Amino acid sequence: MVLLMKKEMINKTENFVKEVLGEDSTGHDWYHIERVRKNALYIAEKENIGDRFIIEMAALLHDIPDEKLNESKETGEKKLMDFLELLALEKESQEKIVAIIHSISFKGGRKTELMSVEAKIVQDADRLDAIGAIGIGRTFAYGGKKGHLLYDPSIKVREEMTEKEYRTGKSSTIHHFYEKLLKLKDLLNTDTARDMASSRHQFLEQFLEQFYREWNGQI
Ligand code: NI
Repeated sequence: MVLLMKKEMINKTENFVKEVLGEDSTGHDWYHIERVRKNALYIAEKENIGDRFIIEMAALLHDIPDEKLNESKETGEKKLMDFLELLALEKESQEKIVAIIHSISFKGGRKTELMSVEAKIVQDADRLDAIGAIGIGRTFAYGGKKGHLLYDPSIKVREEMTEKEYRTGKSSTIHHFYEKLLKLKDLLNTDTARDMASSRHQFLEQFLEQFYREWNGQI
């Protein structure tokens, strides 16, 4: 594929994603997508691996079919596939992009199937945006939208859980730190992402310490 065509496809994809996720208030808005793309391209550059076009396209589209952002799994899937058909992208690239998007979600922290290098990079980039100051902001935004309390000390932290329990079980936003955010640094695929994650992870721990201090009325 010639460069100009790739550029045009990326522009069209940007416009589509802005239209679909532009108004999202759960932390999956356009700026999240833009950060994921930036981080993914940075990781690819640093590690010097992966097809940049596939990485960029998958980063842009990664949240489009997400079940929690759509009426159902099927509606989300259709949204992604209809767009890719419209784009008239060659079959091979299309399949690669779809495979990446399917393999990167968290699903309660269980290991997913073997992934391509492009998938590993996009997954790392998405996970970096779920930790650190931005991760904290996004987690509270999502919790509010889902109707969760900031914190409920009467709920037990779930160590092991199925995908369904992860999506629907009783939780609070602070619980989500233990059920997902604090686990992410050990689930990263690349050294570059691990380097980027360390200060962000530390910040999560500092935030929790301060949160409990204030919760308990300590100065
Ligand atoms: Ni995402």
